[in-house]
Amino acid sequence: MPLIETVNLCQNSDGRDILKNVSLKVDRGEVFALIGPTGAGKTTLLRLIDLLDLPTSGKIYFDGSDVFESGKRKLEARRRMAFVLQKPVVFNMSVYDNIAYGLKLRRVDKGSIRQKVGRILEMVGLSTYQNRNARTLSGGEVQRVAIARAIVSEPDVLLLDEPTANLDPVSTAKIEQLITDIIRRDDTTIIMATHDMSQGQRLADRVGVLLDGEIRQTGGFQDIFTAPGSREVADFVGVENIIDGVIASNDDKVVTIDIGDNVIAAISDYAVGEKVYACIRPEDVTLALSRISSSARNSFSAKITRVVSRGQLSRIEMDCGFPLVALITKRSTEELNLAATREVYAIFKATGVHVIKRKSD
Ligand SMILES: Nc1ncnc2c1ncn2[C@@H]1O[C@H](COP(=O)(O)OP(=O)(O)OP(=O)(O)O)[C@@H](O)[C@H]1O
Ligand SMILES: [Mg+2]
Repeated sequence: MPLIETVNLCQNSDGRDILKNVSLKVDRGEVFALIGPTGAGKTTLLRLIDLLDLPTSGKIYFDGSDVFESGKRKLEARRRMAFVLQKPVVFNMSVYDNIAYGLKLRRVDKGSIRQKVGRILEMVGLSTYQNRNARTLSGGEVQRVAIARAIVSEPDVLLLDEPTANLDPVSTAKIEQLITDIIRRDDTTIIMATHDMSQGQRLADRVGVLLDGEIRQTGGFQDIFTAPGSREVADFVGVENIIDGVIASNDDKVVTIDIGDNVIAAISDYAVGEKVYACIRPEDVTLALSRISSSARNSFSAKITRVVSRGQLSRIEMDCGFPLVALITKRSTEELNLAATREVYAIFKATGVHVIKRKSD
C-alpha cells in the first residue's frame, strides 16, 4: 500500500487549470522527485499533499485513508508530514529556538527537546551556530535550519520544495549531503520538487515529470532520460535531436525511419506508416573524418555549422540535410580539428535512437 496516493487531483484558480488529474503513488521510504520547469505546478501539488490547500477535485489518501473524510483524519495526516518551503522563513530567534519551536508547541519535555535539537544541530552542521539569531544566517544556513526544523519532529513524510534553489554550488552540495544523510538514517519518505534534473537523478529513486499541471511520465530516472514517452518530456530531459519521420520498414524490430531526404535506422516496435520522432541524445553522436559502414550504424555526411566549447566538452552543431547536435570531448575536437564549415561524418547507433510516436495532428 502506498503511503501517499493522489487520485485525479485538480486545482483550478481563476478559471485556469493549474493541476490536471494528478494521480501519484509514493511508497513508504521512497524518495520521489517531482521535476518540471518553472510554473509547472510543483509547489501547488506539494501544498495540496501537505493539506495546506484544498484541491478543486480529486482525492488524497494517506496511509490508506481518505484524508478529506474527517477533520481528525486530516489533522493526523498533517502531523506526520513536514514541509520545507521553497523560500523558507526563520523566526527572529536563535537557531536553537527555531529548531525547538515545534517541539515546544507539542509540549515535549525540556530534556528530550535538548537531546533531539542537539542531535539535529550536529546532523545539519550548525552546532556552533545554535545561539546565533537565525535571521543573521546565509541562505544555505537558513535552508539547513529549515530542514532541521522539519526533521526534528521525526515526520513520516518530508516534503522539500526546491531545497537548493538560489544556493551556490558549495551550499547545494551540503544540502544534498544532508538530504542523503536523512535518506540513509531514517526511513523517511521524501517528496521533493526540483527543476534540476541532475539533482533528481542524484537523490531520487523515482521521478515524476510535471509539465503544465500534468504528470506526463513517472519512472526511474534512467528510463525517463533514455526513453522519454513524449516529445515534451524529451525536450525537458534534454534530448536535443528530435527528428520527424515515418516508419518506412520494420524487419523484426529493426526499423528504418524516413525523415525526408534521409533514412535513420533504429530499434522499435512501431509498424510501417507510423508517424514518429527519432530522438538522439547529443552525447550518443560521434564524429569521424571518413565514412564507417556498418548496418547497425547511422552515418551521415555533415557540415559543421558551429562549435561551442563547454569545459571539457564541445557542442558541435551540424547540417546533415537536417540539423544535428553532437557533444564530444574537447580532446577529440582538437584531434579531428573540428571547426565551422568542416565536413565530417556524424555517426550514431541504431540502438542509440529512441523512437516516440507522434501525436496525429
Ligand atoms: N494562489 C494562486 N493563484 C493563482 N495562480 C497561482 C497561485 N499559485 C500558483 N499559481 C499559478 O500556478 C502555476 C503553477 O505555480 P507553482 O508555483 O505551483 O509552479 P512551480 O512548478 O512550483 O514553479 P517554480 O519552479 O517556479 O517554483 C503558475 O502559473 C502560478 O502562477
Ligand atoms: Mg515552486
